[in-house]
Amino acid sequence: MKTLKFKNGDQMPALGLGTWKSEPGEVKKAVLTAIKEGYRHIDCASIYQNEKEIGEALNQAFKEGMVKREDMWITSKLWNDSHKKEQVIPALEKTLEDLQLDYLDLYLIHWPVAFKPDVSFPEDAEGFLSLEDAPLTETWKGMQKTVDNKLARHIGVSNFKKEKIQQLIDNSDFVPEMNQVEMHPLLPQKELVAYCHDRDIHLTAYSPLGSGDRSEQMKKDNEPTLLENEVINDIAEKHNVSPAQLLISWQLHRGVVVIPKSTNSKRIQENLNAASIKLDNDDMEKINGIDYNFRFIDGSFWETGGKEYSQEALWG
Ligand code: A2P
Repeated sequence: MKTLKFKNGDQMPALGLGTWKSEPGEVKKAVLTAIKEGYRHIDCASIYQNEKEIGEALNQAFKEGMVKREDMWITSKLWNDSHKKEQVIPALEKTLEDLQLDYLDLYLIHWPVAFKPDVSFPEDAEGFLSLEDAPLTETWKGMQKTVDNKLARHIGVSNFKKEKIQQLIDNSDFVPEMNQVEMHPLLPQKELVAYCHDRDIHLTAYSPLGSGDRSEQMKKDNEPTLLENEVINDIAEKHNVSPAQLLISWQLHRGVVVIPKSTNSKRIQENLNAASIKLDNDDMEKINGIDYNFRFIDGSFWETGGKEYSQEALWG
């Protein structure tokens, strides 16, 4: 399995199992299947509300000797209701308790958006904190403490545009080590990838298959279906692989981490097998050329928080 190296020598498996939308009741089996098949990287978040079940799977895998803790890479994310500096460690401790772990390999600020404590999803502007009340630079200081306290080995961000990363860099000695963002051929994020790679910041691609299992509320009318894209299907056919496998392989060839979600045993295995596909320059160029600048997860659900959480402020 290809890995991405961190400055201290740690290596992150470039292909991991995504768990957003993996239902409690299904996710334990999915994680155990993935580990049996050879996955060594699971991507989690407290807001996915399934970390307890993932913890049961990890505990079982370690107890039964399927894999050692040190051979797994576990990522999780700080939710928006815990952005005050002093809330970060307690939030991480809850995640560690649920996952039945002593430390995380990677902890990320999930969104550059802050809520009042214990508001999971604000119904109106009242539930938000402004970035003045909860500055990202302060949240970042809380994140650094998780490394000092050996609760997280690496820290980073998610859904950050380059200006927001630069703000963290300009105000601390600690450069984020990872930015996890939506990325696929409809949204290749070329500028952001170049900016991050220039600064030794790794990237993880979420929704690499287009997250077709999102709730209807999160879908737009007439949105494109990534897995049915003609260019993708033609190149997949040429290599005798599935469109999903091609999408995963394209990310691995670009030097980013990819975390396809599946709770289906056959597809969990299929996705891992994508690691051995070899694409040529012509394939890569054709896929790179798709670029619709289209987001499936556009952050419009934070617009009730006002101008500083508008789509323009998030991505523009
Ligand atoms: P399932 O969990 O039933 O396998 P994303 O990773 O972009 O969020 O996409 C997840 C969606 O893609 C889920 O609906 C998942 O369904 C589906 N999926 C995962 N792997 C494959 C695959 N190999 N082929 C087709 N669909 C897949």
